[in-house]
Amino acid sequence: MRYLYKLLAVLVMSAVFSLPSLAVENNCQSCHADWEDEGGPASMWDGDIHKEVGLTCADCHGGDPTLEDMDEVRQGRSYVGVPKTVAIPNFCGRCHSDPSYMKKFNPSVATDQLDKYWTSIHGQLNEQGDAQAATCVSCHSVHSIQPAKIPSSSVYPMNLPGTCAECHANPIYMKPYDIPTDQYDKFVGSVHGRQLLEEEDLGAPACNDCHGNHGAAPPGLDNISAVCGTCHARQAMLFAESPHKEAYAKAKLPQCETCHSNHDIIQPIDEMVGVGEKAFCARCHDADSDSKGFETAAAISDLLDSLVRIERMAEATIDEAEIKGMSVDNERFALKDVRSALVESRTLIHSFDLEKVKPEAEKGMQLAAATHLRGLDIIEDYYFRRKGLAISTIIITLLAIVIWIKIKRFDNS
Ligand code: HEC
Ligand code: HEC
Ligand code: HEC
Ligand code: HEC
Ligand code: HEC
Ligand code: HEC
Ligand code: HEC
Ligand code: HEC
Ligand code: HEC
Repeated sequence: MRYLYKLLAVLVMSAVFSLPSLAVENNCQSCHADWEDEGGPASMWDGDIHKEVGLTCADCHGGDPTLEDMDEVRQGRSYVGVPKTVAIPNFCGRCHSDPSYMKKFNPSVATDQLDKYWTSIHGQLNEQGDAQAATCVSCHSVHSIQPAKIPSSSVYPMNLPGTCAECHANPIYMKPYDIPTDQYDKFVGSVHGRQLLEEEDLGAPACNDCHGNHGAAPPGLDNISAVCGTCHARQAMLFAESPHKEAYAKAKLPQCETCHSNHDIIQPIDEMVGVGEKAFCARCHDADSDSKGFETAAAISDLLDSLVRIERMAEATIDEAEIKGMSVDNERFALKDVRSALVESRTLIHSFDLEKVKPEAEKGMQLAAATHLRGLDIIEDYYFRRKGLAISTIIITLLAIVIWIKIKRFDNS
C-alpha cells in the first residue's frame, strides 16, 4: 500500500513538472492532435520536413504556442491563420526567398522558387487572382511536405506525374482553360512513362524534367531540343549540324518533337526512316517536289534494312553452329559489335546525311557477313568431323575384324 502511494506521488510530481515544458514545446500541435480527425494537420505532420528541422505550427501560422486556448491564439497579434489560396506563394516564400534565414538550416538550399514561380503560367494566373492555378501546396502538399528524394514525397519523380495530373488530367477542373487534358495518359504509355513508372528508372524524365519545377511552362520552340538534349546529347548534336536545323527554325517547327511528339513518344522503329507509310520523312519529302531529301530517306532506309537482314542471317548461322555443340564464343562477340554498329547507325540518322550513316552501316554489314561466313565454316567443320568420325569408325571396325580373324587362325594352328 505504501508502495502505491509512493508511485502515485511520483506520477503526480512528474505530471506537474512536465506540463509547463510541454506547453513551451508546442501547445498548438498537442491540442490539435487531441480533437482533430485522422488526416488532420497534426496527424499528417509527422514526417513533414518542417517538423524534422524543428519548426512548429506557429512558424507558419503564427500565434503564441504557449497559450492553451484557440480563441486566445487568434486574438494574438502574431496569428496569421490560414492563408487564402492565392496568398500561399508569398506565405511560403516568406522563408523560402530569404537566403539568410534558409542558410541557417541548409547552406546549399536554393531560394529562387518564388521568383521562378512568378514567371510561370501558374504564377501569372495566381497573380491575376485565379485560385485554380497550381500554388506551392498543389505540388508539395501541405502538412506532409517532403524533399523530392524521399519516395513518399508528392514531388518524388515517380509520384510527380500523378501530382500534376490531379489538375491537368481533370477535364472539369481544366474546363475554363483551352488546353488539352491528355498529357498524363499519353505520358504513361510513352517510352519515358514506362521507363520511369514501370522500370522505375529515375533517369527517365518526369513532367518537371521537361517543364521545370517552378517555372512550369511549355518549353519554347528554341529550347525543346535543348531539353531533350540534356539526356539525348548525341541526337541533339547531330540534329544541330543537320540541314533540318535551319529548315525547321524557318518553318517554326520544334526540333525533336516534330517527329517524336512530346508526351506520347513511342519506341522508334526502322520503318520510321524512309518513304513508306510509317516513315516520318515521307510526311514532308515526296518524290515529286524534292529529290535529295526523298532519295536520302530511301537510301538510309535501304542501308538499315540490309544491315538488319545480314545481322539476322549471321545470328541464325551462329545459333545453328551452337546447337550442333560447336564453340562460337568469338562469333558471339563479333555479333555484339554488329549490334552496336546498328544502334550507332540508328542514332546517326539524326544527321539526315547518307554519307554519315553509310560508313557505320557498312562496317556493321561487313562484320555481319564475315561472321556469317565463319559460322558456315564452323558448321562445315562439324560435318567434316562427323564424316571423319564415321570413316575412322569403319577403319577401326575393319581392323578389329582382321585382328580377330588373325587371332582365330593363330588359335587354330
Ligand atoms: C486548446 C486547443 C488549441 C490550441 C492550444 C491551439 N488550437 Fe488551433 N484550433 C483549435 C480548434 C478546436 C480549432 C477549430 C476551430 C474552432 O472551432 O475554434 C482550431 C483551429 C485552428 C486553425 C484553423 C483556422 C482558424 O483560425 O480557425 C489554425 C490554422 C490553428 N488552429 C492553428 C493553431 C496554432 C498555430 C496554434 C498554436 C499557436 C494553435 N492552433 C493552438 C484548438 C487549438
Ligand atoms: C510549412 C507551413 C505550415 C506548417 C508548418 C503548418 N501549416 Fe497548417 N497550413 C499551411 C497552409 C499553407 C495551409 C492552407 C492550405 C490550403 O489552403 O490548401 C494550412 C492549413 C491549415 C489548417 C486549415 C485547413 C485544414 O487542413 O484543416 C489548419 C487547421 C492547420 N493548417 C493547422 C496546422 C497545425 C495544427 C500545424 C502544426 C501541426 C500546422 N498547420 C503546420 C501551412 C502550414
Ligand atoms: C517558417 C519558415 C518556412 C515556411 C513559412 C515554409 N518553409 Fe519550407 N522549409 C523551411 C525550412 C527551414 C526547410 C528546411 C530546409 C532544408 O533542410 O532544405 C524547409 C524545407 C522545405 C522543403 C524541402 C526542401 C528540400 O530540401 O528539398 C520544401 C519542399 C518546402 N520547404 C516547401 C514549403 C512550402 C510549400 C511552404 C508553404 C506551404 C513552406 N515550405 C513554408 C522553412 C519554411
Ligand atoms: C508545379 C509544381 C510546383 C510548384 C507550383 C512549386 N513547386 Fe517547389 N518543387 C517542385 C518540384 C517538382 C520540385 C523537386 C525538384 C527535384 O526533383 O529536385 C520542387 C522543389 C522545391 C524545393 C527544393 C529546392 C529546389 O528548389 O529544388 C523547395 C524549397 C520548393 N520546391 C519550394 C516551393 C515553393 C516555396 C513554392 C511556391 C512559391 C513551390 N515550391 C512551388 C514543384 C513545384
Ligand atoms: C492545382 C492544379 C494544377 C496543378 C497541380 C498543376 N497545374 Fe499546371 N496549370 C494549371 C492551370 C489551371 C493552368 C492554366 C492553363 C492555361 O490556361 O494555360 C496550368 C498551366 C500549365 C502549363 C502551361 C500550359 C499552356 O500551354 O498554357 C504547364 C506547362 C503546366 N501547367 C505544367 C504543369 C506541371 C508540369 C505540373 C506538375 C509539376 C502542373 N502543371 C501542376 C493547374 C495545375
Ligand atoms: C519529354 C519532355 C516532356 C515531358 C516528360 C512532359 N512534357 Fe508536357 N510538353 C512538352 C513539350 C515539348 C510541350 C510543348 C508543346 C508545344 O508547344 O507544342 C509540352 C506541352 C505541355 C502542356 C501544354 C498543353 C499541351 O498539351 O500542349 C502541358 C499542360 C503539359 N505539357 C503538361 C505536362 C504534364 C502534366 C506532364 C507529365 C504527366 C508532361 N507535360 C510531361 C514536353 C514534355
Ligand atoms: C531526363 C532525361 C530525359 C529527357 C529530358 C528526355 N529523355 Fe528521352 N529517354 C530518356 C531515357 C532514360 C530513355 C529510356 C532509355 C533509352 O532507351 O534510352 C529515353 C528514351 C527515349 C526514346 C526511345 C529511345 C529508344 O531507343 O528506345 C526516344 C525516341 C526519346 N527518349 C526521345 C526524347 C525526346 C524527343 C525528348 C524531348 C522532348 C526526350 N527524349 C527527353 C531520358 C530522357
Ligand atoms: C517536318 C518536315 C520534315 C520531315 C519530317 C523531314 N524533313 Fe528533311 N527537310 C525538311 C525541310 C523543310 C528541308 C529543307 C528544304 C529542302 O531542302 O527540302 C529538309 C531537308 C532535308 C535534306 C537536305 C536536302 C538538300 O537539298 O540538301 C535531307 C537529306 C533530308 N531533309 C532528309 C530527311 C530524312 C532522311 C527524313 C526522315 C528521317 C526527313 N528529312 C524528315 C523537312 C522535313
Ligand atoms: C526528321 C525526324 C526526326 C527528328 C527531327 C528527330 N528524330 Fe529521333 N528518330 C527518328 C527516327 C526515324 C528514328 C528511328 C531510327 C531507327 O530505329 O531506325 C529516331 C530514333 C531516335 C532515338 C532512338 C534511337 C537512338 O538514336 O538511340 C532517339 C533517342 C531519338 N530519336 C531522339 C531524338 C532527339 C533527342 C531529337 C531532337 C534532337 C530527335 N530524335 C529528332 C527521326 C527523327
